[in-house]
Amino acid sequence: MVAVTNGFDNRIVDLYPNDPPVVHGFDDHVTDPVIDGHVILIANKETDFVVDASILKTPTDLGAVLPALVKLNAGLASLTTQNDDARSQVLREAWKLVQSLETPRETMIRHCWAQSGTIAALNTGTVSGLWTTMAKNGDRPQKIDELAAATRVDEVLLGRLMRHLAAMQYIVETGNDEYKTTNFTKAMAHPFIADSHLAMCSGTSAGAYQFHEFAEENKFQNPIDAFDTSMQRAYRTEKDMFQWLQTIGYGEHFNHHMQAYGQGRIPWMDPSLYPVQDRLINGADRSSEAPFIVDIAGSVGHDLATFLKYHPDHPGKLILQDLPKVIGQIKHLDSTIERMEYDFHTPQPVEGARAYFLHSVLHDWPDKVCNSILGNITKAMKPGYSKLLINENVIPRTNAHWEMTSLDMVMLTLFSSRERTEDDWKILLKSNGLEIVGIWQGSQAWESLIECELLTET
Ligand SMILES: C[S@@+](CC[C@H](N)C(=O)[O-])C[C@H]1O[C@@H](n2cnc3c(N)ncnc32)[C@H](O)[C@@H]1O
Repeated sequence: MVAVTNGFDNRIVDLYPNDPPVVHGFDDHVTDPVIDGHVILIANKETDFVVDASILKTPTDLGAVLPALVKLNAGLASLTTQNDDARSQVLREAWKLVQSLETPRETMIRHCWAQSGTIAALNTGTVSGLWTTMAKNGDRPQKIDELAAATRVDEVLLGRLMRHLAAMQYIVETGNDEYKTTNFTKAMAHPFIADSHLAMCSGTSAGAYQFHEFAEENKFQNPIDAFDTSMQRAYRTEKDMFQWLQTIGYGEHFNHHMQAYGQGRIPWMDPSLYPVQDRLINGADRSSEAPFIVDIAGSVGHDLATFLKYHPDHPGKLILQDLPKVIGQIKHLDSTIERMEYDFHTPQPVEGARAYFLHSVLHDWPDKVCNSILGNITKAMKPGYSKLLINENVIPRTNAHWEMTSLDMVMLTLFSSRERTEDDWKILLKSNGLEIVGIWQGSQAWESLIECELLTET
């Protein structure tokens, strides 16, 4: 018997009534999905209230359609100005339009079928070399048989994958079994975009998809234990996400993901965001051996590489630290940047640097683990000279940008951690003997640069 509760009165309904009948009464305490060797799916077990089914086929918010269209129309002019904030606003209105027009049934189909099917097709395109083949062929229409021969993907399979991607508007159908790329599918030929999908969707997403089970087991408490995460439960591993991805062969893909994340953003060391000259270079020790910036857990060095482009005449040394595996994965990095294998739970070997820099590091960890990371940094800081620079989101309590809330969900479902509000930052830093001396932020969607110093004794 395969059964579900019917959602109305919590009786179990047999989905395949022609099987030999086995009837179970509903039991609220049933958590074992297998009873008498049969699969039991318990749905809606707490609810005796069901909304009227007519809303399932009614657009989500017809009233929002016209205002969204008006705003979209008004926003179009801004698209020619190269103003990315304006483009982002137009995008939000476009989403609002889609969400409002869609019926709940359609949204459900999109979530349950369309998106997972899209990831299957995109990732198959990556590993088979489809996207690089199509990008090399340029903007012309391309036939399935030609692409199948080049990638050695079965024509029938390729045709099915492409048909879905065209229906989802990731590629353009130009004829029978004939397609051309869009800007997105061309970008899938770049490892930053392609590998992000492999690492995050294929390597970690079960943490999100099974989060509700983890949450229920933990009595719906906000998780704060780095060693008990939904991701670990879903993949039956004790490894943290970084170790997990290295183990399953997606470590370098994740490095690319971090590089992809930074694309199209003004980096923190841009003078429009943070006055590096004024805050760091002025007053720094100019001797060649003096450590200037230590990028802790800096991945393959992309932040320091960008820093070097902005400030080629910086004083002292730039030092990159990360775990040995990641340091070993560096392919291109200016030889003046010193590479150092380092575990941030051990004493910081570089003392008295002008700045210790952490980008997208502390959000990966709940406060308890951050205390260990910060403790090792503060012990190495020189009072009155060293700064700690944190490049992360300061998530607002209201009207937060979707990229920030999405990242908060990543932290929740993979790390039992969170994006922090300004108050969260103050509390965490103060308890580690640090004070915030300034927060610099660009666009609403961007990470801030939080400058901290050792707390002065009062
Ligand atoms: C989210 S990534 C951020 C990387 C880089 N700072 C950036 O913004 O692109 C976190 C980094 O922490 C590193 N990491 C994880 N555990 C570590 C540890 N115990 N010691 C040092 N680095 C670690 C990972 O290898 C990874 O490169």
